[in-house]
Amino acid sequence: MKDPFQIAVLISGSGSNMLQLIENAWHYTVKLVISNNPEAGGLVLAQQAGIETKALSRADYPSLAEFKSAIFESTLEAGADLVCLAGFMMLVPEQYTKIFTGQMINIHPSLLPKFPGLDTHKRVIEGGEREHGCTVHFVDAGVDTGPIIAQAKLKVRPDSQADDLSREVLALEHKLYPWVVNSIARGWIRPTNGQVQIEPQAKLDAAAKGFIIPR
Ligand code: GRF
Repeated sequence: MKDPFQIAVLISGSGSNMLQLIENAWHYTVKLVISNNPEAGGLVLAQQAGIETKALSRADYPSLAEFKSAIFESTLEAGADLVCLAGFMMLVPEQYTKIFTGQMINIHPSLLPKFPGLDTHKRVIEGGEREHGCTVHFVDAGVDTGPIIAQAKLKVRPDSQADDLSREVLALEHKLYPWVVNSIARGWIRPTNGQVQIEPQAKLDAAAKGFIIPR
């Protein structure tokens, strides 16, 4: 492990999770922010924070496959210890999920394995769920299926609307994601043979902060 631990963040949009990762970088540094959308608002936020950014545009590549390769080759070139997907709206090609096994994580706005994919808040309400939340997981070849690291939960009120849940879950994401990345950077959380190994300090700290480590 290099010192300091370095992360690369991949974004597509507003970058509010990315900003939290930048502002709460206690045990790591943010080496690079990459976007598949040159218009992503998060790029400006990263630049304002003095972080190097790289934006790639679909229009510059003859095929989607080549565009994706360019994004993940740029990510590899960054040489970061960990890649954090933060509102990154592109499926990672299987070959890159293999290359980044144990070194790529994602935050998803549901209590996985419930509600993988899009429109989670609306589906939670339609499904009559009593609780909802967010999950940070290692990325594998499936959609939102990789080993779960930690979750944060909230209660769904009878009158909750999708917009309320979106706002409330995003606020939880902003706390959970930096905690997980700091915990990985300090060696509290490690991937081992497709499982997640959690040190006792991490379990205690997670419990104190109200985070859930499903085991
Ligand atoms: C978050 O809800 C994240 O979980 C999901 O997309 C949203 C991105 O928000 N994948 P932001 O770009 O971090 O503001």
